[in-house]
Amino acid sequence: MSARPPLPGAAVAALACPVCGGPLASAADAAVLRCPAGHSFDRARQGHVTLLPPGHRPPSGDSAEMVADRMAFLAAGHYAGVSAALADAVLQGDGAPPEVLLDLGGGTGQHLAAVLALAPGAVGVVLDSSPYAARRAARAHPRAMAVVADTWARLPVRDGAVDRALVVFAPRNGAEIARVLHPAGRLVVVTPAPDHLGELVGPLGLLTVDPDKRARLAASLEPHLVPESTTSRQERLRLDRAAVATLVGMGPHARHLSRDDLATRLGALTEPVGVTVAVHVATYRRAG
Ligand SMILES: C[S@@+](CC[C@H](N)C(=O)[O-])C[C@H]1O[C@@H](n2cnc3c(N)ncnc32)[C@H](O)[C@@H]1O
Repeated sequence: MSARPPLPGAAVAALACPVCGGPLASAADAAVLRCPAGHSFDRARQGHVTLLPPGHRPPSGDSAEMVADRMAFLAAGHYAGVSAALADAVLQGDGAPPEVLLDLGGGTGQHLAAVLALAPGAVGVVLDSSPYAARRAARAHPRAMAVVADTWARLPVRDGAVDRALVVFAPRNGAEIARVLHPAGRLVVVTPAPDHLGELVGPLGLLTVDPDKRARLAASLEPHLVPESTTSRQERLRLDRAAVATLVGMGPHARHLSRDDLATRLGALTEPVGVTVAVHVATYRRAG
């Protein structure tokens, strides 16, 4: 493994010590983050840092296999349209361009990297409970860094330090997101629409999207955040069976299907497999 990637200073400046809440700074060799009270957090060789309160065990997050499938599927560009819709929502508006982006449950960091590519003045932080995902996210973009954290717990981020919070197919904690957002900041949430991956549900026995998901999302975020706008994006991919296998493997379905069962079901699909990608992209601002 090569040397740890450098840390973007403005991203480190947005972080808070998970023990005392103080500001964190990077040591000269970028191998450790420290707060003024002396709490220190070593960076892993792969570049990520773990910022969890003492004794806090995070949920396990995505496995190594799921993360490998996510890397492959996103690197092939199949969700480039989702990244583009996310970037549009993150960068829209005629105010000052966002400088600090926080991607909660950001996985491999590939969506964040796509947004950073369009935001030359911005830095980004991926928070994810999966160390396998954080390893990938640590190298996703030169202006991004990766932190292993539990987004259901107090976030290791300073009050009001974030211009845009991003949540793509991941859990969201309304109270904490509102705390870390700058008063003029925005939250952008991407969720699957009811027909997302619809063609695969029956043949592969996938989990279905809860039709009440939008209502549940709104309820979980209010009263901390107020909805501002929503857009929808739909497209149809034409995938070979190998790509469908990675698409299934990277998602929650992977936990419900055995590899053999999936292989049998995949074998029955006719290539190319038409797959609908349908998402809602909702933007929120802080309440009050
Ligand atoms: C469906 S994946 C989405 C990943 C990424 N946003 C994307 O779209 O490529 C959900 C991610 O949330 C992470 N996750 C689940 N529970 C979490 C928690 N409590 N704290 C932080 N991350 C969590 C998982 O490890 C996984 O990387």
